Amino acid sequence: MAEYKMSALSVIFIVGSVLGTSDVDTVWMKTTIQDYFSQSRNHGTGSTYKEAAKNFILKEFGDYGLETHTHTFATDVSTVTGNNVIGVSKGKYFKTASDRVVGVTAHYDTAAGTPGVFVLPNWDMSASVNANGAGVVAMLQAAKHLAKFTRDYTVVFVAFDFLEPGEDNACTSLGCGSRSFMNEWVYSFWSTPPTTTGVIVMDNILNFNDIQESQSLPAGYDVLFPTLASSLTSNNNKGDFLTVIGRPFDSGVLNSFIQSYTALGQPEFGMENVYISNITGSSVTPDDITTYWDLMRSDHLSFWNHSVPAIFITDTGK
Ligand SMILES: *[C@@H]1O[C@H](CO)[C@@H](O)[C@H](O)[C@H]1NC(C)=O
Repeated sequence: MAEYKMSALSVIFIVGSVLGTSDVDTVWMKTTIQDYFSQSRNHGTGSTYKEAAKNFILKEFGDYGLETHTHTFATDVSTVTGNNVIGVSKGKYFKTASDRVVGVTAHYDTAAGTPGVFVLPNWDMSASVNANGAGVVAMLQAAKHLAKFTRDYTVVFVAFDFLEPGEDNACTSLGCGSRSFMNEWVYSFWSTPPTTTGVIVMDNILNFNDIQESQSLPAGYDVLFPTLASSLTSNNNKGDFLTVIGRPFDSGVLNSFIQSYTALGQPEFGMENVYISNITGSSVTPDDITTYWDLMRSDHLSFWNHSVPAIFITDTGK
């Protein structure tokens, strides 16, 4: 074990690096996606496979030496429960007032009837594992790497259940697993929620498309985000980049992530920052959610609702 004292922000720096460097076992990542994250993981259309995926994540966290937890929560259908899978890497300041927690998360369930795709015309469903097996495996790879170090601050890895609603509307509004995690598990584990440096949420991170005009923006976004719009135009609207989405309140984790990603020097894997400068508060209002709904559709919203800094890393699902 390397004796390496990491600050909370350097943890984020390393996650950013792990996502983009050769310091990853890409063979393991591909095999894991194929074996555990390539079929439907929905309680209605793939419950057995979903259970296997959940157990796999739990076993992996344990193998890395993390403290593991399963958080079972109620859904909007009385007979259906969800399970978040949690791995805690304790820092020196664990459960003290000095701790500055970092979160790394991805949801592991899928929409009903799909292996995890954002359904678009002409999409080869059988070939896609984008939503969100790729995010889960990136999170596992980061956990596997970070668990090798001792550190001052605690890192919490979470695979969320029920981002997706399900055919029976077990989660009528998106993000039920992360919402329950914030409302229930955080309080049961810490009693008083810890100071959090930032949470990284990954969802839809594998769709790389370098064909011209493959990327579009939601209506009105050219006006809301002119810098982003002109950057896409000058790149012939190729969908060959990741976006990192954040607000001014998320600046610490946002800037640290962008800095580490950029430092990798891999311009072929572009990064666009969608900076929502108009959301100036620590949490989001119902009006903010309506105005920026296309940027709200994942688990980061649960953190933003609780005044916790969080960034959303995504290929935009397009
Ligand atoms: C966030 O808060 C809004 C109310 O402002 C609520 O409608 C929504 O369901 C919440 N979302 C999550 C994921 O917590």
